[in-house]
Amino acid sequence: MEKTVNCLNQFLADLAVFYRKLQNFHWNVEGKDFFVIHAKLEEYYDDMNEQIDEIAEYILSIGGQPLGTMKDYMEITKIQEAEDVKVKSDAVLSCLIKDYETILQEAKQIKQESDTNNDAQTSTMMDNYIEDYSKKLWMLRQTMV
Ligand SMILES: [Fe+2]
Repeated sequence: MEKTVNCLNQFLADLAVFYRKLQNFHWNVEGKDFFVIHAKLEEYYDDMNEQIDEIAEYILSIGGQPLGTMKDYMEITKIQEAEDVKVKSDAVLSCLIKDYETILQEAKQIKQESDTNNDAQTSTMMDNYIEDYSKKLWMLRQTMV
């Protein structure tokens, strides 16, 4: 179970840093489509906040200790933070595609390893995440054509 907890903590760290990035973009995005992107980013970080809570509580439920400080998250995250500067929606959207791809891969990897370990609970849990990120990625890519 220790390896699962470590993978889930890595996932938690990435979601926590991505959450901060989504809200930073929500504040700093600018341009003609501000209203749309500003609102969409709020929807995205609200979804992510629920997932952060779910993962942390799941780690506890399987006897692990969830990471809970920004310091811990920054030490291991694969997500690069956004700068404190104004940003155009195109730049936001391509950044989101890259970051959602990262966490989608991670969710798939966790599922794969859980399947190898006959850990049905973790594996099933990842299904919702994979579905959520895949759908968001499809929609985000629709904006790029
Ligand atoms: Fe707001």
